[in-house]
Amino acid sequence: METDVPNQARSYDILESVGNTPLVELRHVPVKSGMRLFAKLEGMNPSGSIKDRIARAMAEDAERQGRLRPGDTIVEASTGNTALALALLSRQRGYKLKVVMPTRVAPGIAELLGLFGAEVVWCEPRVGMKSAIDAARSLAGEPGHVALLQFENAANVRAHYEGTAAEILSALPQVDAFVAGIGTGGTLTGAGRRLKEANPKTLVVGVEPRFGEQLQGLRSLEEGYIPPLLDLSLLDGRYLVDAKAAFHRARALAHSEGLLVGVSSGAVLDAALRLAERMERGNIVMIFADGGWKYLPSYLTSFKPHDALHDADDIAWW
Ligand SMILES: Cc1ncc(COP(=O)(O)O)c(C=O)c1O
Repeated sequence: METDVPNQARSYDILESVGNTPLVELRHVPVKSGMRLFAKLEGMNPSGSIKDRIARAMAEDAERQGRLRPGDTIVEASTGNTALALALLSRQRGYKLKVVMPTRVAPGIAELLGLFGAEVVWCEPRVGMKSAIDAARSLAGEPGHVALLQFENAANVRAHYEGTAAEILSALPQVDAFVAGIGTGGTLTGAGRRLKEANPKTLVVGVEPRFGEQLQGLRSLEEGYIPPLLDLSLLDGRYLVDAKAAFHRARALAHSEGLLVGVSSGAVLDAALRLAERMERGNIVMIFADGGWKYLPSYLTSFKPHDALHDADDIAWW
């Protein structure tokens, strides 16, 4: 077989395949006329989520600063995706990994982490992510332990400014609205800033679970913890989505587009469709932060479509 790619130009490093994910138009989801929906499929990253971007950026930053050396133990608080991304990176780069995780995460994630040789340190879900972060920070006091602290690490924001948003703009120069979930706030802050620099009229919209609801990977600002990386001044609005609506949208997307995405992507789609109703015309770019495989058991068993009714007034604009 002929190839015009010279051998020395090839990279055999799996971490080189982070980013450059496809931006695809959803052509089978009914949307208001004049509006087009585009999804950045972050589940196509090597560990299956957008968090591969920040895992690599934070680790390389720490390596450059001499804070992280092969043989060290990375400690991180995560509800799943960052942990899985760091598990891949740790195996590749010769680190050990300890993950502080609240007990209420998608089933199977701890087993997966075990498979990758990571150690899980459980904490109570009711004490919230703040305590998991504090626990990670105190573990990092032990010799050879390094906390990357995704909730406050500037490399998180930079990965989305330099990567995610730059890729979006090269695929689609006209972005009228950008919709992404709020976890650490890294995606919204990094990508939102770059998109607004390119076009100050681009609406930047965050998605969060309704107060008291659990949506894997996302957090409610109403719970009182505002992630330090989240630049609220960039946000034009927030949509609150309940778990049932998010599940329903994710399942419906599998049916209409053949795309299996995570629950937070269902929430983002729900918000984008509500936003589309308020816009005249234009392109909405959504971040689908992960694939749906790890949520599969609950997709197949939970919620009937008619459970998905939600209160359309649940929008916060400012
Ligand atoms: C599934 C999922 N969606 C969305 C997000 C939000 O991304 P960010 O942390 O950049 O705000 C996360 C973050 O953990 C996530 O795991």
